[in-house]
Amino acid sequence: MNSPTDGRHLPTGPDSPAGLTVRPIRIEDAVDLRDHLFPHRPVLDVVASVQSGLDRGATGRELRLVATLGGHVVGHVLLAFHTRSSERAHRASLDDLAVGGPWQRRGVGRALVEGASAAARQRQARLLTVSVRGGTPAEAFFRACRFNEYGRLRGGLDDPWGGPSHDEVMMVRNL
Ligand SMILES: CC(C)(COP(=O)(O)OP(=O)(O)OC[C@H]1O[C@@H](n2cnc3c(N)ncnc32)[C@H](O)[C@@H]1OP(=O)(O)O)[C@@H](O)C(=O)NCCC(=O)NCCS
Repeated sequence: MNSPTDGRHLPTGPDSPAGLTVRPIRIEDAVDLRDHLFPHRPVLDVVASVQSGLDRGATGRELRLVATLGGHVVGHVLLAFHTRSSERAHRASLDDLAVGGPWQRRGVGRALVEGASAAARQRQARLLTVSVRGGTPAEAFFRACRFNEYGRLRGGLDDPWGGPSHDEVMMVRNL
């Protein structure tokens, strides 16, 4: 089987939108990422962040994936691996999942999760974990993607903008 980092597209599941692809990130994706997902960040900041992700990817510690529609990046997710612990080598985790506002509720997020799951399986991972803010749309989204709660830290996540704290909900999906 090909490595997920060789530039090929990853499987996105039977219900993904027509024309959608999920593939490893490239440096030239930075402009679309800034325009569609991080409009408040300077483009050079996004370029630097993509480059450091590619550098960490080269060590095998992480894999950043993007979803594209019509040739443009509309979503992003980070898949991280435990490279320093043989006891945890069968686990991978998701972070930084985001879909641009105009493309939400069209199956892009689900396709990113399916692509990340396929990439994790290629690395022999059997458990895929994520941590989310309890009671938010993200929790409903991961439940819809067949993640189950395995732990909850009550009041574990403060709101950096001064709003109420949320539970941190730890979720897992068997791969
Ligand atoms: C959470 C997020 C990634 C979902 O991406 P998406 O492309 O809109 O999700 P999908 O269209 O693939 O949704 C799949 C299913 O998840 C559930 N879901 C998605 N968004 C939901 C919402 N806002 N409220 C409730 N359920 C939701 C639904 O069951 C949906 O299926 P349906 O549309 O057939 O009902 C996206 O809303 C987003 O980027 N939000 C802001 C950033 C964020 O919260 N990231 C998660 C950090 S942990």
